[in-house]
Amino acid sequence: MMDALSIEHVSKSYLLEGVSRPVLKDVNFQVRRNEIVAIVGASGCGKSTLLRLIVGLDDAYRGSITRGGPDGSASAKVGMVFQDHRLYPWLTIEGNIDLAFDNTDLSASARRGRVRHYLELVGLGDYARAYPRQLSGGMAQRAAIARALAQEPDILLMDEPFGALDSILRMRLQDELLSIWERNRVSIVIVTHDVEEALYLADRVLVMEPNPGRIRDVFEVGLPRPRDRGGFGLSDLKKRCLSTLV
Ligand SMILES: Nc1ncnc2c1ncn2[C@@H]1O[C@H](COP(=O)(O)OP(=O)(O)OP(=O)(O)O)[C@@H](O)[C@H]1O
Ligand SMILES: [Mg+2]
Repeated sequence: MMDALSIEHVSKSYLLEGVSRPVLKDVNFQVRRNEIVAIVGASGCGKSTLLRLIVGLDDAYRGSITRGGPDGSASAKVGMVFQDHRLYPWLTIEGNIDLAFDNTDLSASARRGRVRHYLELVGLGDYARAYPRQLSGGMAQRAAIARALAQEPDILLMDEPFGALDSILRMRLQDELLSIWERNRVSIVIVTHDVEEALYLADRVLVMEPNPGRIRDVFEVGLPRPRDRGGFGLSDLKKRCLSTLV
């Protein structure tokens, strides 16, 4: 079966004050259908840049990126949760999520139902009519997650989606994400600073190193779910993972 995502020999440079600076160098990996891949690595090693290339916001790179759709075509629907929430400030939270249903043939009442469903999923049922500025950072981030999920993407890209959340909420949303992933056949690439989060969620963890950004190590997690956050399996992997990071 076709991989959900295939990144082959991807390199990218940015022009900074007239000088070309390599940011990504020969990045290669595949994401299988329904796989969760986490990317960890130092600040500035090119993680957000890589996601921008994958989602198609920037096509100035070398190499190839293939997004395999569920029907075997190369036209997967890709959803993205950015590092900053990027909600439209002039729309309410429900208005922001409702945008996901533009270009669908859902009726107005079906749309309302779907918006409500995704709002409740992230615990924002009471904030449908609020504007982004009226939410805390973590709430806005949750709204952005709801918006991405509402698109029902084949591939979900998440750039530090839980970074602004307290640890309890973070764990709850990690579990929520896993249950959404179990119900829907979605492939996930999640960038995180948190090695524990990466190992708890992912089937594979890619460790990147900077200057220029490249993949240094790949860890197969291979532990059954639900995983024991405090278990030996995860703590042993964490030790090995951290030793390549620092
Ligand atoms: N538009 C741009 N123009 C020039 N350089 C850029 C641009 N965007 C990013 N960079 C540079 O590319 C490098 C990688 O940035 P990127 O945002 O991908 O890192 P990151 O791994 O996501 O870091 P963080 O963990 O801090 O979010 C950095 O050195 C940054 O300065
Ligand atoms: Mg980033």
